[in-house]
Amino acid sequence: MWNPTRKYTDRPAIILGIETSCDDTGCGIVDTAGKILGEVINSQHLTHLKYGGIIPTIAGNMHRQRITAVCEDALKSANLRLRDIDAIATTTKPGLPLSLAVGNTFGKYLSRISNKPYIPIHHMEAHALTVRMEERIDFPYLVLLVSGGHSLLVIVENVNQFYTLGTTLDNAPGEIFDKIARRLKLANISEFSHMSGGQAIEMAANKATNPKKFVFEPAMTGRRNCQFSFSGISNKALRYILKQEKEFAIDGNTIIPDVYNLCAALQIAVVKHMCLRTQRAMEFINNLNLISPEKRTLVVSGGVACNNFLAKALEIVCLEKSFKFVRTPPRLCNDNGVMIAWNGVERWIANVGVIRNRDEIEMIAVEKKVPLGESWIERVQDANIKCKLVKLKGLCD
Ligand code: KG4
Ligand code: ZN
Repeated sequence: MWNPTRKYTDRPAIILGIETSCDDTGCGIVDTAGKILGEVINSQHLTHLKYGGIIPTIAGNMHRQRITAVCEDALKSANLRLRDIDAIATTTKPGLPLSLAVGNTFGKYLSRISNKPYIPIHHMEAHALTVRMEERIDFPYLVLLVSGGHSLLVIVENVNQFYTLGTTLDNAPGEIFDKIARRLKLANISEFSHMSGGQAIEMAANKATNPKKFVFEPAMTGRRNCQFSFSGISNKALRYILKQEKEFAIDGNTIIPDVYNLCAALQIAVVKHMCLRTQRAMEFINNLNLISPEKRTLVVSGGVACNNFLAKALEIVCLEKSFKFVRTPPRLCNDNGVMIAWNGVERWIANVGVIRNRDEIEMIAVEKKVPLGESWIERVQDANIKCKLVKLKGLCD
């Protein structure tokens, strides 16, 4: 029976985390010392690749079929029983409602049968905090969260307080990579066939001989804020593809001749846009002295943070702006249950958002769209910071 007076210092508490916000069914078990005790991730990626995108009903059904086995296997891999767990943490927002609902229903069920507290988790908060499981990073810090569903620049003030400096006006960078990779039919090239769109674009870009062959105008240069927009870049890439398809009479499953150069040019355009917004966020922090100079840190996380070209570019920006650069370990950047369990650990230690009342737990519903913390978007806009992207020496300048 759970004892609410027991402190995490007696022995490490153990949190089980469930992730089903999109197309990965994940369960992670982490203790308050930051040790990963067990982990299972079941990706639906190859199924959705066949359909040309994520079909929410299919994603929901696949989560439902797999959730029990994924959680059982995670417990087995940790050599633990449900009664050894101190609390259940589950992603309840934001994400695909049909997918989120599977995790939320199952998480509440586990909490009910084991009589343990429940910790609802905001998926993007989890991405923002994961890095602290591996490395000591003090609050506050700046984080760039880039994935298939999000593009955010956020100050992490503490476990429960976030200030959003910028978000996307249209698409997320991973979404653009996935869409263009599909349009380029990269999955028809055997070495890319099992990769996510973003990973395939990065690998294809590494084979480019002339990335400057395709020109992308910088996005949103006139707006002195930290908002993102990727639709212009995406449309331009689609126009280049169409042009080459016509020019070389490409049809069916064949691929345009300049595929590698186009992937490289696209990657540069997307990365430069993210870097410029991040640089302005750093200048905003520096100008207002929001973080003391010796503590200034940029963390990058989310699936797109697996991109090595982005990591190198951000490292250059950090060096110029005197920020320490910390990349969330790539194995923890893509969606997984461990990051949800870790967010549960952070909340358990701070004792915020740990729900113990059974009626309250049963009332918790999933939410499709939820902003991350307080919006400082206008504050950044009002600061009107003129910003010229530092030279990305050795990368693309
Ligand atoms: O965080 P995540 O697993 O799921 C979401 O919450 O969206 O991110 C998945 C996204 C996909 O769009 C995928 O194409 C992208 O991350 N991604 C990458 C790379 N690896 C995964 N994008 C660029 N470069 C990569 N190496
Ligand atoms: Zn994610």
